[in-house]
Amino acid sequence: MTALLEVEDLRVAYGKIEAVKGISFKVEAGQVVTLIGTNGAGKTTTLRTLSGLLKPVGGQIKFDGRSLKKVPAHQIVSLGLAHSPEGRHIFPRMTIEDNLRLGAFLRNDKAGIEKDIQRAYDLFAILGERRKQAAGTLSGGEQQMLAMGRALMSQPKLLMLDEPSMGLSPIMMQKIMATIAELKASGTTILLVEQNAQAALSLADQGHVMEVGNIVLSGTGQDLLHDESVRKAYLGED
Ligand SMILES: Nc1ncnc2c1ncn2[C@@H]1O[C@H](COP(=O)(O)OP(=O)(O)OP(=O)(O)O)[C@@H](O)[C@H]1O
Ligand SMILES: [Mg+2]
Repeated sequence: MTALLEVEDLRVAYGKIEAVKGISFKVEAGQVVTLIGTNGAGKTTTLRTLSGLLKPVGGQIKFDGRSLKKVPAHQIVSLGLAHSPEGRHIFPRMTIEDNLRLGAFLRNDKAGIEKDIQRAYDLFAILGERRKQAAGTLSGGEQQMLAMGRALMSQPKLLMLDEPSMGLSPIMMQKIMATIAELKASGTTILLVEQNAQAALSLADQGHVMEVGNIVLSGTGQDLLHDESVRKAYLGED
């Protein structure tokens, strides 16, 4: 079986500085795969490259059987790859519902779009309750919910989430993680970047630890959760 996403020896640079130095990993359909690692390891750079926002200097990206090399960013969404970016990037003056609709900008199946908006409200009740309000009035955690809901509106084959729990209270973080688990249970394939290694590894099928542009350790979520070096470096144990 070929994987939904295959990344092979990917290298990405900002000018002369190589931020991703030849990483390889796969995401099989239905899996949750997580990239964890310290600040500046290259996780966001990797996701931005997969979305077509950055051009790699080397390596291969195969998504759903085709190379993404020559596919421009705006077409990558239409192939089924959605990105909920670090820092969320919702549109604060637009209503919550209009933010969600933006996520469906490539679709014209009206009934399907309405159904998926309802699904976002089912996943995140607060979004439904406040659908007509400006998105900028949402709290940080609620904006994160909106960013995830918006990414889902494109009906992605692969949902990429960049630090969905960043800056959230423990309760909000739990809610976001529970929703990721719910999405996984309903068959959504997810590539999850997280600082919260414990939470990410707990629900991941596969995990990769990144350090200064390289993947230094890979394994199942459970393997990595029990790995001594991971426990020391990322789970706050000594
Ligand atoms: N636009 C840019 N120009 C130059 N260097 C950049 C740029 N964006 C990121 N970098 C550098 O590339 C490296 C990787 O950054 P990246 O944002 O991918 O890390 P990250 O793993 O997502 O970190 P964090 O956990 O802090 O979000 C860092 O050294 C960063 O300073
Ligand atoms: Mg980042």
